[in-house]
Amino acid sequence: MSKEATLQFEGKEFKLPVIVGTEGEKALDVRNLRAQTGAITYDDGFGNTGSCLSEITFIDGDAGVLRYRGHAIEDLAEHSSFVETAYLIIHGNLPNSAERRRFGDLLRLHSPVHSAMDHLFEGFPLGSHPMAILSALLNSLGCYYPHLATNRPTEDLANFEEASAIAISKVRTIAAMSYRKSRGLPYIYPKRTLPYCENFLHMMFSQPYEDFVPTPEVAQALNLFLLLHADHEQNCSTSTVRMVASSGANLFASVAAGVCALWGPLHGGANMAVIEMLESIHAEGDDGSKFIEAARSGKAGHRLMGFGHRVYRNYDPRAKIIKASFDKALASLGIKDDPLLQIARRLEEVALRDDYFLSRRLYPNVDFYSGLIMRALGIPQNMFTVMFAIGRMPGWIAHWKEVASNPKNKIYRPRQVYTGAVRRPFVPMAERP
Ligand code: ACO
Repeated sequence: MSKEATLQFEGKEFKLPVIVGTEGEKALDVRNLRAQTGAITYDDGFGNTGSCLSEITFIDGDAGVLRYRGHAIEDLAEHSSFVETAYLIIHGNLPNSAERRRFGDLLRLHSPVHSAMDHLFEGFPLGSHPMAILSALLNSLGCYYPHLATNRPTEDLANFEEASAIAISKVRTIAAMSYRKSRGLPYIYPKRTLPYCENFLHMMFSQPYEDFVPTPEVAQALNLFLLLHADHEQNCSTSTVRMVASSGANLFASVAAGVCALWGPLHGGANMAVIEMLESIHAEGDDGSKFIEAARSGKAGHRLMGFGHRVYRNYDPRAKIIKASFDKALASLGIKDDPLLQIARRLEEVALRDDYFLSRRLYPNVDFYSGLIMRALGIPQNMFTVMFAIGRMPGWIAHWKEVASNPKNKIYRPRQVYTGAVRRPFVPMAERP
């Protein structure tokens, strides 16, 4: 295959180098395009733009393939755990037993938050959204660990193992504390003896007078949920993390920005939007048919939430795995006839036969069923996106590291095609219409 593409523009020919990834995907290298031609590329939403070279996650959207560091998501879902997968994503390989032990020790060591942080929680009004609290408190970690947040990438990288363990471990403690704060409940502190997911559920649901002990199926369902969300290459929040990191910002500031980007309903907020949609369909006594009819407009407010994906145009492999594990989790929780689940199943069935959805290649994404799983686990709705953030933390950390350790790192700075007014004279206030 030719290592160059030819571009004809304004009567001249330009050569564009072709870059080929390890899985064969091709990119036209336009880094010198503007210097050579005076033109830039236009790609609203970046759907055709490769913003970086990355070794972390491979997705083939047409074939429904997702791999972390070369490992198929199906294999990891069957054989691994969230913590082991987090190690894989951050450090590049599955850990041996000594590495796994050390990682677990670091996570345990860093599970409590600094007691001064309690006061930060107190500063938020009751009912504050946990995503706002999570983002603010993650960023504040840089104040408690200034040696890990120097904003000098080489120095921050020297302490990366500690910083990354703090981020993974504390995101779960902060998340649980933000939930307890939003409900006016006393904080429950982490227990060193508990594994990652069980510890989170303990901090969420234990009472000062009684420990919450989840069934193994419930802990496993949470483990799987987090593992399936652990990375997804250059999505909106991860690109945000990379963008912030590209300026040299520290890990905590970068992942806090990722939380903000994740919050919106077109990204991490979709799992919450799915439940809101199912509840409103249920409240209206619709079996889903009227909703599907309206969703064919594709307009905001009518979209079938949990359907469609920028990259997956066939199926989302995470949705397949989560759906398959769903029945086991529900059975262990004793849930049989959830009306929202019935509506969800019907929506999926109808949409997968409907020409509108088929012709646009809109299939269930991971959020279609993950919201229902969270709901079954007793996670309150405004925490769903927070759960996604806990799961995505390893990915954000790995991408931060990739940017921070790139000796050729360039600050992210896209261009634009300006379409506003051309130069016009300044008119004094008294003469303005
Ligand atoms: N319901 C109805 N119509 C839809 C939907 C949907 N969920 N998604 C896309 N469409 C339609 C659009 O109206 C458009 O139709 P048109 O060609 O007639 O104009 C066409 O399908 C293509 O849609 P785009 O918005 O261009 O697709 P894009 O790749 O930009 O968006 C997105 C992907 C944001 C995920 C979109 O499918 C969507 O809004 N889905 C619902 C929200 C959701 O589930 N988000 C979670 C994403 S997964 C994640 O973050 C983990």
